[in-house]
Amino acid sequence: MDQRFFKMKIAEDLKQIILKAVETSGFKVDKEKIKLEHPSDINFGDYSTNIAMVLAKEDGKNPRELANEIIKNIGNSELIDKVEVAGTGFINFYLKPEVMIEEAETINYEVEFRNKLSEYGKNKTMVIDYSAPNIAKPFGIGHLRSTDIGQAIYNLYKILGWNCIGDNHIGDWGTQYGKLTAAIIRAKNGDKRFQIGDNFELEKMTIADLEKLYVTFHKEAEVDESLIDEGRDWFAKLENGDKEAREIWQKCIDISLLEFEKVYQMLGVHIDFIHGESFYEDMLPGIMKEIEGKGITKKSEGATIVELPEMPPAMLRKSNETTTYFTRDMATIKYRIENWNPDLIVYEVGVDQQLHFRQVFETAKLMGWWPKNGMIHVAHGLIRWPTGKFSTRKGDTIHLSDVIEKATEEAEKIAEKSSVNKDLTATEKGKMIKAVALGAIKFSDLAADPRKDVIFDWDKIMSLDGDSGPYLQYTYARCKSVLNKTAIREQKNIETLPEDVNEDEVALIREFYKFEEKIIEAAERFSPAVIAEYILGVARKYNEFYAKNRIIDQKEEVFRVFLTKTTASVIETGLDLLGIETVEKM
Ligand code: ARG
Repeated sequence: MDQRFFKMKIAEDLKQIILKAVETSGFKVDKEKIKLEHPSDINFGDYSTNIAMVLAKEDGKNPRELANEIIKNIGNSELIDKVEVAGTGFINFYLKPEVMIEEAETINYEVEFRNKLSEYGKNKTMVIDYSAPNIAKPFGIGHLRSTDIGQAIYNLYKILGWNCIGDNHIGDWGTQYGKLTAAIIRAKNGDKRFQIGDNFELEKMTIADLEKLYVTFHKEAEVDESLIDEGRDWFAKLENGDKEAREIWQKCIDISLLEFEKVYQMLGVHIDFIHGESFYEDMLPGIMKEIEGKGITKKSEGATIVELPEMPPAMLRKSNETTTYFTRDMATIKYRIENWNPDLIVYEVGVDQQLHFRQVFETAKLMGWWPKNGMIHVAHGLIRWPTGKFSTRKGDTIHLSDVIEKATEEAEKIAEKSSVNKDLTATEKGKMIKAVALGAIKFSDLAADPRKDVIFDWDKIMSLDGDSGPYLQYTYARCKSVLNKTAIREQKNIETLPEDVNEDEVALIREFYKFEEKIIEAAERFSPAVIAEYILGVARKYNEFYAKNRIIDQKEEVFRVFLTKTTASVIETGLDLLGIETVEKM
């Protein structure tokens, strides 16, 4: 899944220095083979490489001796303070304080920081397919995950200068809408099993009615199999432009889109385009012809399938001539390539669709519809609940509204107990509760690697001293309250480190320069969790520092305010990338 699109400045310069030293020592090495990492213990420097061990192994040499030889060939540089050999042959680098200070300063000048980052993705375009709920179905927790992660990936690429296009591939076409239409027709014709309200009126239907009808349809179909055929027929009618089918379907879309819009507004999400599956309808005959023309299809029991290596065939056209989810995804790719010519296409969709995307990607490759940097399925895991802690109204699909309601209750509790809250106005308090509730939900979604499942545990999600959104928001508010108490609250830069700098301060200053790298790493790995983890680390180090050091009216005030200011900048920008709001007071 990893892609390398970016070159990081400090790490890249360091690799160049290592490369030269290695070559001077008489070795040849591919620069890409030089690995750098941050030692977890800062007593081993800021960066460490195992290159001496790798080369020694290839050459049958003593790795430690070789490491010592290499470091002799590392001359003075603007980056490095000192170099050491450690353990069985690691080479550890300590960055110059000036370098770390300069990086921290840049973060405080937001425009400058953003300009610097935007150089990375110049002239690159990515399309990201995310959220994509289905009409007539509630916006569930799975689509929330796609929305949160998708938006964060969008934000990451955007800050790195990519031209980003968010495309919402709403589910509004397919057999399931035939089923829904069948259910609505039955409700309209007074079939008691499908009764909703006293008098059926298409105009007055709500999203809850649609959901109910859809669930009823499936329940009834278990005892009355003819319903399944009826649903299939209605989809065929829909595809053939039947007037009544179209009218009902359009109504369902209108109701659902209004509902989704409300959800997006509440979540603070804006997706550039909505192109539902139905959008591609006109393209489908041509697409099928083109794929058939490539000679990769076969007839099978009246259907047309695409045969693929090492995976089951994909269905291009069903025996009743209707199209499939797969066909529509192929049309979507063609459309995106023709319209936007992207370098990269990202799909943020649940892991249960892995096979589907393998089939789609393989077929796209065979067709030559393949962007320069490829296509990626960021397959998110499930959200799970520790049993007993959360139940839904109906006990079935988990509705986003239930989750938000519960998070809001918890945020209200935080508002009550928080000590720095006293001077909050009612409006500020309302804003804070909303930011904390949404921040908690989003953060828990984003802090786990997308590919892993998330356990939604309310105590952890809302904890003010754990790895949570509220903890970060609280730390940010703490920084703000410190800054409000000093006259030098705009302390964005400093000359050098103080002579008697202490270990809490050092630990912090040695974190900030990593921000840029982490943004790049998060983008390359399509994992907003990299950012979540990083800002948590900064917040923890800040809170350790805060617990032990006074800031205001100390001789170290300038330096400590600078550390506070930079921490606030990192948390604010980091949370912003994750789509989470900060609050000034909490
Ligand atoms: N609507 C689909 C679902 O809820 C997700 C669509 C994902 N995007 C795509 N291009 N297939 O399962």
